[in-house]
Amino acid sequence: MSLGPPATARREPQPWVLRRPGALRGTVRVPGDKSISHRALLLHALAVGEARIAGLNAGADVAATRSALRALGLALRDESGTVVVQGRAGRLAPARAALDCANSGTTLRLLAGLLAAQPFTATLDGDASLRRRPMARITEPLRAMGAQVDGPTGGRTPPLIITGGALRAARFELPVASAQVKSCLLLAAAAAGVGVEVVEPLPSRDHTERMLAGMGASLARSPDGRSVRLRTGPPLRALSLTVPGDPSSAALLAAAALSVPGSRVALPGIALNPGRTGFLAVLRRMGAAIAVAPGPDQGGEPTGDLIVEGTGDLAATDVQGDEVPALLDEVPALAVVCAFATGTSRFRAVGELRVKESDRLAALRELLAAFSIRAWEEGDDLVVAGGAPQPPAELPASDDHRIVMAGVALALGALARAGDLGRTCRLPDATAAAVSFPAFRPSVEALASDGHA
Ligand code: S3P
Repeated sequence: MSLGPPATARREPQPWVLRRPGALRGTVRVPGDKSISHRALLLHALAVGEARIAGLNAGADVAATRSALRALGLALRDESGTVVVQGRAGRLAPARAALDCANSGTTLRLLAGLLAAQPFTATLDGDASLRRRPMARITEPLRAMGAQVDGPTGGRTPPLIITGGALRAARFELPVASAQVKSCLLLAAAAAGVGVEVVEPLPSRDHTERMLAGMGASLARSPDGRSVRLRTGPPLRALSLTVPGDPSSAALLAAAALSVPGSRVALPGIALNPGRTGFLAVLRRMGAAIAVAPGPDQGGEPTGDLIVEGTGDLAATDVQGDEVPALLDEVPALAVVCAFATGTSRFRAVGELRVKESDRLAALRELLAAFSIRAWEEGDDLVVAGGAPQPPAELPASDDHRIVMAGVALALGALARAGDLGRTCRLPDATAAAVSFPAFRPSVEALASDGHA
């Protein structure tokens, strides 16, 4: 069976010539958290009533979730910056075409859960990167619950053709901690009206659990956060919320600020879910000056303002395997900081980074090598020998948003420390940043010229 080339079209490249910045100074409101934004839309397929969602991430990944849900009958409209969504009580309508999840693993894996409980057939597809990502981790448990999942590779990679229906209750022990897999199974059970228990080797981000609980679901969680059980209950209630700022975007700007001496960057209203803030603990033990002022809870999630100062010497660190789920998406940002640190840093048990939007271990090795920084893989560990990154004339090309933004942070730090004031560093294409942070470039430019983005 062949479903033809990936549905998502290539865009025009957007080159960016980076110059030596002064200190980075100012305030940036980073976009709404991507993980919470996806869930705020997807979980309303299960709810009854109308929700108003402010601060939704405006990037391409969440846009893919939005258009897929619309194709499945969810009513969504924009009202001056707020998205108003009407719940569908778990019942979606068949789509007329394949659902294009673009670059977004969260869209595809969570939507697969909802579709597993629908009495029709739907196809989930995406771009060339998404077509390479492993899906057996969701197709096998969804089949065990009773869904039919097919596709050109038998459900191992997209496209996935899902024929859903009545599901049975189940208990799963996941081999790898994954919020996407856990959420897929919780959504499948919630949509089908059956119970499910998911146990992980280490706790992954719990946005789905928090939002489900806020919508009235009956959830039991183990104190160590590794296991969650969803019981059947009354229909979920719509939940209006303001999405807090994305800590993964904040981490990339923090990395830039820590790399450019004399910087001071304020990042207000950041989601501080403990499943996402592992990078703060790592940066602090490296000697980074990061102040956190706690803010109000938003949509069941803790928030706070970050102030990051590029004050000086940073020491290498050894990131342990049990820290990884809470900083998995921040390894590119942390690797940038490690490139400027004194000594050799190690990220243990980060093999999952090979199956993200790109092979991030290979991409980081290549990026760091372009700056004459030695980095290598030892089994599933990434090792970075810190030093004095030298800016190359041209950055390696990447279609992975976090690698592109990490490259910019690294280039700014290297240019700021270079003796030659006229040095530049050309990024061949910055388009990928729009996956999660469409205003990344203007935000960086405003910080570099002492402004407010
Ligand atoms: C996400 C979970 C993580 C993360 C991804 C977003 C989510 O993936 O890397 O960027 O929103 O649930 P895994 O669950 O595959 O680890």
